[in-house]
Amino acid sequence: MFDFKYYTPTKVLFGKNTETKVAELIREFGGTKVLIHYGGGSVVRSGLLKRVTDTLDQAGIAYVTLGGAVPNPHLGLVYEGIELCKKEGVDFLLGVGGGSAIDSAKAIGYGVANEGDVWDYYDYKRKVTGCLPLGVILTIAATGSEMSDSSVITKEEGLVKRGYSSDYGRPRFAILNPELTMTLPDYQTACGCTDIMMHTMERYFTQGGNMEITDALAEGLLRTVKKNAVILRDDPKNYDARAEVMWAGSLSHNGLTGCGNDGGDWMTHKLEHELGGLYDVAHGAGLAAIWGTWARYVYKNCLPRFKKFALNVMEVPDEGTDEEIALAGIEAMEDFYRSINMPTNLRELGVNPTEEELVLMAKKCAIGVGGQKGSAKVLDEQAMLQIYRASM
Ligand code: NZQ
Ligand code: ZN
Repeated sequence: MFDFKYYTPTKVLFGKNTETKVAELIREFGGTKVLIHYGGGSVVRSGLLKRVTDTLDQAGIAYVTLGGAVPNPHLGLVYEGIELCKKEGVDFLLGVGGGSAIDSAKAIGYGVANEGDVWDYYDYKRKVTGCLPLGVILTIAATGSEMSDSSVITKEEGLVKRGYSSDYGRPRFAILNPELTMTLPDYQTACGCTDIMMHTMERYFTQGGNMEITDALAEGLLRTVKKNAVILRDDPKNYDARAEVMWAGSLSHNGLTGCGNDGGDWMTHKLEHELGGLYDVAHGAGLAAIWGTWARYVYKNCLPRFKKFALNVMEVPDEGTDEEIALAGIEAMEDFYRSINMPTNLRELGVNPTEEELVLMAKKCAIGVGGQKGSAKVLDEQAMLQIYRASM
């Protein structure tokens, strides 16, 4: 077991109609002028944005709005948001939507609270020393951005997708009403479940420090999401299943399922971020398309963890050699992806990179991780390229 820091300052309000408390929460955290930041319009169509602005109007809290955060959110809109906040004297950010709107809001918060170009942080040139306070109303269970320290932004020039992590970016509050996720397309629900599981799996397939309590939480979370993803495939309006998945999404990426381990592997995420940057695929689907190939590439270096995963999460029979059990677990995970209509390779994801593009993605990925990265197995640029090639 390694020493660890566990920091989750986000106040969570969970359940039906919790969005009606948004004005009280903004007040509690000192907001007097709010930027409401959202995505491509689902919150307009669902009526959620109107309910939020009505609540703020009634409470006498001033606000401005900025929509347009796209999946794999763009730096250009972040710059626009920073200017708007400065011009309007905004002192609180409210992200309403999914990971893209929330991540874009975090980036705006960094840009307002720090001098200079906000991209510098995503380009690992500088570290933030603050962030405008941020609250969240979540509409898709997926990234865990509602409690996480991360924000992922794509710079349009060169299609560079990068993440930046800082405790300053952790939201002050998160409003989690599972009913708000019921308007999601089935594909996005499945993408979300995939991403949630992957945030714990990235922390699970590691080389050391593993704690019994952390493993028990991780395996329980993975089994719960696996089960409820299938329930939601057949019954998308099932409140309890929506609730299980939504809370799992927050716990999966707030640090809980990584306590004591060596920090996580994260290479499936890094490999996916290049796909998201270049082809604009949904993050969860990109992860599913890469994971099986990554797993087969690394499992021999991390055999005890892959065996444990196969037995305790995928519940394969305890028969055969350790390698056979580990491989059966990987196959069972891919079967699960197929069962919820997620891709298991790039072709099924709908992208068909040329050899030059594969080389470019591996190169950008290696640059993005500072040369090499991984815990289950450390991957360099050549290894990244081999995984991209094998995932076609
Ligand atoms: O943009 P709108 O119109 O809102 O539509 C969105 C979008 O098209 C739609 N949607 C969301 N809630 C809905 C809804 N449609 C109907 N009803 C609802 N209730 O779903 C689509 C996807 O939304 P998006 O916010 O892009 O999804 P997600 O939450 O998966 O966020 C993905 C982004 O987050 C990054 C990903 O890389 C990607 O850029 N990540 C952020 C992380 C973090 N901050 O901690 C960690 C993750 O690993 C991830 O990298
Ligand atoms: Zn993710």
